[in-house]
Formats: sequence, C-alpha cells, structure tokens
Amino acid sequence: MELDPKHIRIAVLGLGYVGLPLAVAFSKKYETIGFDINTEKVFFMSNGVDPTDELEEGALSEALEGQLSITHDPSSLAHANIYIITVPTDINPDKSPNLEPLIKSSELVGQYLKAKDLVIYESTTYPGCTEEVCVPILEKVSGLTFNQDFTVGYSPERINPGDKQRKLTNILKVTSGSTPEAAQRVDALYNTIIEAGTHLAPSIKVAEAAKAIENAQRDVNISFMNELALIFDKLGIDTGDVLEAAGTKWNFLPFKPGLVGGHCISVDPYYLAHKAQQVGHDPEVILSGRKINDGMGLHVAGSVVKLMNQKDLPVKGGKALILGLAFKENTGDVRNSKVIDVYHELKSFGLTVDVHDPLANPAQAERVYGIQLIQELSLSDYQAIILAVAHDAYKGLDIQRSTDLVVYDLKGVLPRQNVDKRL
Ligand SMILES: NC(=O)c1ccc[n+]([C@@H]2O[C@H](COP(=O)([O-])OP(=O)(O)OC[C@H]3O[C@@H](n4cnc5c(N)ncnc54)[C@H](O)[C@@H]3O)[C@@H](O)[C@H]2O)c1
Repeated sequence: MELDPKHIRIAVLGLGYVGLPLAVAFSKKYETIGFDINTEKVFFMSNGVDPTDELEEGALSEALEGQLSITHDPSSLAHANIYIITVPTDINPDKSPNLEPLIKSSELVGQYLKAKDLVIYESTTYPGCTEEVCVPILEKVSGLTFNQDFTVGYSPERINPGDKQRKLTNILKVTSGSTPEAAQRVDALYNTIIEAGTHLAPSIKVAEAAKAIENAQRDVNISFMNELALIFDKLGIDTGDVLEAAGTKWNFLPFKPGLVGGHCISVDPYYLAHKAQQVGHDPEVILSGRKINDGMGLHVAGSVVKLMNQKDLPVKGGKALILGLAFKENTGDVRNSKVIDVYHELKSFGLTVDVHDPLANPAQAERVYGIQLIQELSLSDYQAIILAVAHDAYKGLDIQRSTDLVVYDLKGVLPRQNVDKRL
C-alpha cells in the first residue's frame, strides 16, 4: 500500500521509553505531534532533553528542528489523522491491570477523532483489550462508528531499554488492524520506519496475545532458573556451574536466575493472567512463575545474612553496599526494581545499607524509594557487598574476597574467585 506523506499527520500520545523514540522516528517521514500529560517532561523534551536517555545524542533536537513538535496541549491533536497510543499499562496493588491511562488517552483521542482516522495502540495489554475496552470509548466519545468511520490497529513495542544494538528501527515489528484495509495501512506505515520489516498478524487479538506471551515466556523461564537456584542453594551447589554444564546440550535454553523487575516482564504476565481468569482458566504456570520471581529479593538478602553469620561478621549494626538499583543493566530506570526488596530485607536484619547506581537519577531514587544514592564508592567501608545490576561500569570492579567481607554476585559479573556466592 502506498502512503502519501503529505496526507499523514501523526500524534503519539505518551512520550516515554516507547513513545519518544517512536515520535522521533516518524517525524523523519511525517509531520508528528508528540503529546504527553506530564508538563515537566514536555518542558524538557521540547528543549531537546531526552529523559529516557534512549535516543542518540542530538536526535531529539534534530527532530524538533524538523517535523516533530512536543506538547501537553490536547487541542494540538485536532491536527492529526493517525493517533498512536503509547501510554503506560501498569498494574494495581492487587495486580489487576491498571487501564486508566489507556482509557483516558482513548477518551482524549475520541474528542478529536474524524472520519477516516486511524488509532493505533502500542501499549502492552491482554488479548481483547483494544477492541473490548478502547474501541467502545472511541465510539462513545466521538459518536463515530468503528470500522465504518474510523479503524484501529495494534502494534506492540519490543524495545529493550539500555540496549544500544537493538533499537526501534532494527527490531521486526508485529502489526495488525481491525479490517484488512486498516491492517495493510498500519503495516505500510510501520514499514516506512522499521528497517527490520514487519510481521502482519491476522488480527488485533493475535498481535496483543503475541506481545503478552513474549514477556510471559521470559518470566516463566527465569522463574524455573530461580527455582533451581533455590534448590541448588539447599544442596550446596553453584547454579552457574550447573547451568554451564547443562548448557552444553544442544537444546538446553540459556536462561539465568535473577531478580525480575521493570514494567514489562514482571507486569505483563498479570495482564495475560487477568484475561485467562476472565475466561475461566486458572493460569497456574504463569502465576507460580510470578510468585517465585517476586520472592527472589528476600532469598538473596537471607543468603547474604547467612554468609555474614558464617564469617562472624556483625549483621546488626553492620554495613552493606548494594551495587545497582535500576531494574536492569545499563539503564537508569529504577521503577519497579526488585533490588528494593533486597534493600528492605537487609535493613530489616539491622544492617545499614548504602545503594550505588551510576546511571540512576538520584532524585528519582529519592522520590520513588526514599533512597539517597551514594555517589562515591569506598568499598572498604562494608561487611557485605551485593552486586545487583550488571551495569558495564561494574565490570572490572576491584573487589577482593576476604574474611571480613561477604561478596554476593547476583549477576555473575565479578571474577568467580572474588565472590562468596553467585545466585
Ligand atoms: N519500556 C519498555 O521497555 C517497553 C517495551 C515494550 C513495551 N512497553 C509498553 O509500552 C507502553 C509504554 O511504556 P513506557 O515504558 O514507554 O512508559 P513510560 O512510563 O516511560 O511513558 C509513558 C508516558 O505516557 C505518559 N502518559 C500517561 N498517561 C497519559 C495520557 N493519558 N495521555 C498522554 N500521555 C500519558 C506519561 O506521562 C509518560 O511520559 C507500556 O504499555 C509498556 O508496557 C514498554
């Protein structure tokens, strides 16, 4: 399908890790409005500052000099004819999907929707959410009829924050649409920016389900590794050694144990579980994986304390250092980090705990967790050091194993001979 850039005006709603790079990429081809409700972020972004640090140096300023505008003014949406929704899809405290941003952004788009417009959802969700929750809102607010006056698409995002190799344009993108024509239009649109190409799924539900299971699969696989780590801990054998040996078989999958945080792998399975329960299936494997992964922070802290006791190091009144707070390596994003479980559990044993992370924003760490990140590393001040996040900056760190220090390496970053225990 041929697309005429002169007739395409894109609005991207929600300029976070997903929306901002997307808006920048589309602006290279089309007039693009980036809209976000966070006025502070909009202020920074419209001055060329990328709060996510995901874009290449200068890419945002260059886009702003071209066809990109960034705003928190909803009336600017009146100018668009393709709306792409990249708002957060978090979970509520009871682990149910928090659809509020999807609902609110759909209400907003509904106010500006015109005949022939296309609305594309990118936010991760459960199969059925777009057509069962979002479309009725678009119809109600706009007064237009779905698939007659306007159409909808779903194209999940697969970016991996902190990954400098795999970026929006070189990751193959799944596309879908509510009619065969809409599907072709969505697919053609993404093909103009995604160098890796697209996979056109047969329906929106299929595309939604595909995204949900990509992350659920990873979660379940890691949970199996975590369960093995719990078993081998009791057996007194090193999980890394076992995995290395088992990994010599051609079909052994190379997953590793670890903390599972962030706003994708630790959240998306609950969306799938929610839908499964709605249709009368108890998603036992998915939820038991979640339970194991959620408990790993406590296990790590308990192991550290046990090792300290074995070395006759003071726990109450002792000092521990956690290296890394971000939810994964080489990103500064601390939201939903499971390192916080290790932190709280160590503190509950009476330890004083310092946290260091060269990439995390200190103001965000303070606001989200009440933690004041230490800026200078003085490794000799501690009786326990826990390497929690495999930031490149921690590779080659000079930590020596000794009788008055416990070194716990969650990520297998440090030389084996320098650590007391790996997860
Ligand atoms: N971050 C990732 O690695 C990643 C990868 C793949 C998919 N996803 C999915 O993409 C979606 C967005 O994730 P993210 O990481 O970019 O989130 P984010 O929190 O970084 O950004 C979301 C942005 O949306 C804005 N927003 C919230 N409500 C809004 C509304 N009603 N109207 C307009 N803007 C609104 C927020 O202010 C924020 O700037 C989620 O569904 C997530 O699961 C994320």
